[in-house]
Amino acid sequence: MGRLQSFAISKSVIKIFMLSFFQIIGLHFFSKKLLLKKLKILLNTEGYTFTPQFSGRVALQNLIQYFSSEMESSRCLYLPDYICNVVFKASEIVDANRIIYPTDVRCEPVLSFLKRAIRKKKVGIIVLASIFGSSALLKLLNREKVRKFIEKENIKIILDLCQDISLLKHVPISKNIGVIISFNNKSFPGLMGGGILYHDKLKFHEKSLPVGKKLKLYYILLRDIKLKYFLRRPAFVGKSYDYSRCVHFPYTFDNYKLSKIQFILAICGIKKINIYLRNKIDTINLYKKEIIKTFFYETSPYLILANPRFRKELNRKYKLSYAKHNDPKNTYKDITIIHNKGFDDFYSKNFSEPSPENSYSQITSTLKS
Ligand SMILES: Cc1ncc(COP(=O)(O)O)c(C=O)c1O
Repeated sequence: MGRLQSFAISKSVIKIFMLSFFQIIGLHFFSKKLLLKKLKILLNTEGYTFTPQFSGRVALQNLIQYFSSEMESSRCLYLPDYICNVVFKASEIVDANRIIYPTDVRCEPVLSFLKRAIRKKKVGIIVLASIFGSSALLKLLNREKVRKFIEKENIKIILDLCQDISLLKHVPISKNIGVIISFNNKSFPGLMGGGILYHDKLKFHEKSLPVGKKLKLYYILLRDIKLKYFLRRPAFVGKSYDYSRCVHFPYTFDNYKLSKIQFILAICGIKKINIYLRNKIDTINLYKKEIIKTFFYETSPYLILANPRFRKELNRKYKLSYAKHNDPKNTYKDITIIHNKGFDDFYSKNFSEPSPENSYSQITSTLKS
């Protein structure tokens, strides 16, 4: 069953890719200004101003810096314990005290911890993220009473929706909420890129992207396509955790202007998002009993397996569990995560389990270098 489905999906991915190919070429004739206009319409962010950024991590770093410049020195920046370590790295730009708050098995913030800190007037900024479909407390933030309270307490919220751009429609308008999105291979096939949504216009000093680096983006695009559709990728078996050092282009925190190809891929990706969402639902219907139902699991690009042993039956890519922020060899949650992006979720050919020294993390780290 898994293999049949894999075949059907890879055929549809190739079809989508062929359709996109002509669109990608055609959109190169548009100016960046026009592409930005198109992107804003597709994002449908009424009430918010969209500021494009070179990546989700750059957007996060800039917004943390912006919010913390207005924060009283006695207040702190609150970050979740379990999240991609680039979030913690993005926060290293500021001098503010950072406090790690705990999250539960469904990656939901432990509310009692946050409430206590708020009562003590310690909270200046909270980063709330949707991880593997967790809620980012969006249900709470949609209550007017809660938003009024946050404004009264002068708390700034950074909503990190980098894993699932489809959650944008749930974001309420508030001058105390800034939203981060990413165009990087999670909600649709992309090539880094992202942005900030905020009620006010934001301006950051951005460098022009040198020609060599622009060409590198095209090179990465071609290389990824080749890898995704023609090469065999081994499954991960070793015991290591997801940890990015953010040292190689385009995964650094360099504040570059978003390039044309990144705009174009974001436009093509968002246009096709409903196709990917439908594919996600098909998988969920197949594996319903085997997954942990987080708040937004139906649109999440990754699913947490309830039983790790089940992973052996799947022909799916695994995602390594996140490492602790300052401890790449350990994790807060030893959980088993599979891909469910609605595109590129399966190994393209039958794979044999590789030896631990060929682990997925090692392969991706060589690719990234
Ligand atoms: C929760 C979260 N926030 C931020 C980021 C950074 O996004 P980007 O890869 O676009 O820099 C990621 C992904 O790496 C992520 O998973």
